[in-house]
Amino acid sequence: MAGTDYKAAASRYDGRMPYIRCGHSGVKLPAVSLGFWHNFGSVDDFDKAHATAKCALDNGITCFDLANNYGPEYGTAEQNLGRMMNMSLRPYRDELFITTKAGYDMWPGPYGDWGSRKYLMSSLDQSLKRMRLDYVDLFYSHRYDPETPLEETMQALVDIVRQGKALYVGISNYPVETLDFCFSYLKSRDVPCLIYQGRYNMMDRRVEKSGILSACAAAGVGFTAFSPLNQGLLSDRYLNGIPHDSRMARNFFLKRDVLTPELLKDLNTLNGIAASRGQTLSEMALAWLLRDGLVTSVLVGASSPQQLLTNINAVKNIVFTESELSDIRQVITKY
Ligand SMILES: NC(=O)c1ccc[n+]([C@@H]2O[C@H](COP(=O)([O-])OP(=O)(O)OC[C@H]3O[C@@H](n4cnc5c(N)ncnc54)[C@H](OP(=O)(O)O)[C@@H]3O)[C@@H](O)[C@H]2O)c1
Repeated sequence: MAGTDYKAAASRYDGRMPYIRCGHSGVKLPAVSLGFWHNFGSVDDFDKAHATAKCALDNGITCFDLANNYGPEYGTAEQNLGRMMNMSLRPYRDELFITTKAGYDMWPGPYGDWGSRKYLMSSLDQSLKRMRLDYVDLFYSHRYDPETPLEETMQALVDIVRQGKALYVGISNYPVETLDFCFSYLKSRDVPCLIYQGRYNMMDRRVEKSGILSACAAAGVGFTAFSPLNQGLLSDRYLNGIPHDSRMARNFFLKRDVLTPELLKDLNTLNGIAASRGQTLSEMALAWLLRDGLVTSVLVGASSPQQLLTNINAVKNIVFTESELSDIRQVITKY
């Protein structure tokens, strides 16, 4: 379909996609959100990325997650979203919840990294230009900066909202010890932290163990889980080898040497448990994250509309029996 002819599917809000309230806020997010970290950059197939974004909206995925440096090249995922806005998505701007971030390296010199007011403010201005947007729905501080006073980073978030450049703010990858300060600083300035974005999947449960998940729940802050499929490991992608077009084949963010015989055996066991539930492994991995209401949204990546459609199916069954949970626990406790 030519971009400009795009009409979002009339069925997109037919009840298949649950919308979950984000902490104590007025915002509901789709149980499954789409991330633009991989597959949306200048090195990727734009038409396929565009088809994936349209497929997302057609199926009720209203939340697109970006960051200043997503690509590669840095900035190009945002540029491509901007192209998509102009080609097809602009009429749906008010149906979309678009997020971006700054906190990792973006441009050379002392002002293109970490958490200073100087970096966050100028980065968001650049992001808005690339995405061809007047505002983002949510702006994240992408990581904690141990050298910048937290007051400075948090006040920059407050001022970004006051300037109308973001409707809400959030934090990502912050250590648990900083959460009380961040949440109360923002709340006392009437810009409550909407959401915490953290890495969470069956094989990486550090946000459970550190208390981050429970701290968010106690503070009325939503939680969105990134890399919920452990970059694709928790799917059928690698059960029969390493496909040439996979993230692991690129051997950069997901290294080939993680796929040990022991891991493969565990993935096959999990795949068997998923099959007995009538699910694929990726569906079960996402359902497991959504099972107890602590996760507002699982933030998946997808290199094709087909992958995204499989992942959306996860919401059809997020209930686990005690015996399924125990079988899963036996496999994942060592991770
Ligand atoms: N805040 C942060 O610091 C941070 C860090 C990382 C990510 N994130 C956010 O989280 C998003 C998701 O991260 P992620 O891409 O690592 O998530 P993920 O969902 O764990 O992994 C996505 C990858 O898994 C594979 N995959 C997805 N669905 C599949 C299916 N049904 N069957 C087989 N393979 C499937 C694809 O790999 P192939 O490409 O091999 O097909 C896809 O690119 C990012 O886009 C970003 O928005 C945030």
